[in-house]
Amino acid sequence: MNPDPCSLSASPPRSWPSEGYTRAPYWAYRDPDIYAREQARIFRGKSWHYLGLEAEVPEPGCYKTTYIGEASVLLTRAEDGSLHAMLNRCAHRGNMVMREAFGKARKLYCVYHAWSFTLEGDLARAAFQHGLRGEGGLPKDFDTAQHGLRKLRVNTLCGLVFATFSDEVEPLEEWLGDVAAGIRRVLRKPLKVLGYDTQRIHANWKAYHENPRDSYHANILHTFYGTFGLSRQSQESGMILDASGRHVYFYTKAGTEKESSDYKETSSSLRSVNDGLRLEDPGILKWTDEFQDGISVQILTAYPGFVLHQIANSLATRQLLPKGPGQADLVWTYFGFADDDEQMTRTRLAQANLAGSAGMISVEDAAVCEMMMRAMGDAQEGESYIEMGGRDLDGGGATKLSERAIRNFWHNYRLDMEL
Ligand code: FES
Ligand SMILES: [Fe+2]
Repeated sequence: MNPDPCSLSASPPRSWPSEGYTRAPYWAYRDPDIYAREQARIFRGKSWHYLGLEAEVPEPGCYKTTYIGEASVLLTRAEDGSLHAMLNRCAHRGNMVMREAFGKARKLYCVYHAWSFTLEGDLARAAFQHGLRGEGGLPKDFDTAQHGLRKLRVNTLCGLVFATFSDEVEPLEEWLGDVAAGIRRVLRKPLKVLGYDTQRIHANWKAYHENPRDSYHANILHTFYGTFGLSRQSQESGMILDASGRHVYFYTKAGTEKESSDYKETSSSLRSVNDGLRLEDPGILKWTDEFQDGISVQILTAYPGFVLHQIANSLATRQLLPKGPGQADLVWTYFGFADDDEQMTRTRLAQANLAGSAGMISVEDAAVCEMMMRAMGDAQEGESYIEMGGRDLDGGGATKLSERAIRNFWHNYRLDMEL
């Protein structure tokens, strides 16, 4: 009997390690079939995805182009002030409708054959619909209402705009659960965009997604945090997850060090505790406790690709956009409040140097993600070990010395992916 040709496939069958969400097999970061499944089941599935700030489309006619996963997406503000999201893919033959990152328009006009759409995404006009001198033209039963752009659901929270392909996922605020409190804590007033930074990370999107959920590494990898006291393991801190475990934020309070002998013993071996480092201009460390709760750093991550950070007075969103199994774009949007005075804006801009592609803190995150990918090699074998703070989804309490949020990520990932 001839062998089953399928059994000759080079790829071994994919089965998750028996330990479950305390392991992440390295093939999940490399396999193109897994990547395609993620696009369908996560990015076009039952999740909300961050598109931008309301402040980026402030007036009727304003639009922004962006992505959800690999899907090209358009965010618009219509004449009545309402927000709309849709695929930025012409309903005729698939051309990209709007090409600029931002703009203002009365109609969404496709250059290929001049179909034009309203700001809500409905087809307004198809060029030469009735032909010319009795020739050509679209079929007599062509129904304009059936050929609009593919519309997405839009929800907002405190000036953040999210969209989803799903009609089933609960409203955004419900979906974020207890983690919405971390957004409300920071985004209290109308926002003002200060600038952008986009970096291409040569790593699978999940390698980066794990990183800001990982409170364990923050004070170890990042020399700057520990050395200059913005965030230390010994400070008062906490970690909050929503009931589903999809979303998380953690925080720390500078100046609340509680020394203990085991902390001293461990910290003396950390690379990040380096008393020899000094800043040429320590002004970057001067921050105002603007929310009056003593929190110096708060990092919030929403599944699958959104981060909101407050690092001293630096405020920014991060949008994670997969670009194939081995790379992703990370879009940083720095902002302040519309009523900030000049001094506060200067402080926020100075502290923006801590974050972003070349940030004194953040530069190490992308570097580690890229080194992980190099070390995984072809990823046909091997898996990560995720048991800091326990082996379950709830254990580890609220301590930052825990990989609880990473376990919860893989738990939800496996549910969505049916892996
Ligand atoms: S592809 Fe847009 S009008 Fe033809
Ligand atoms: Fe980090």
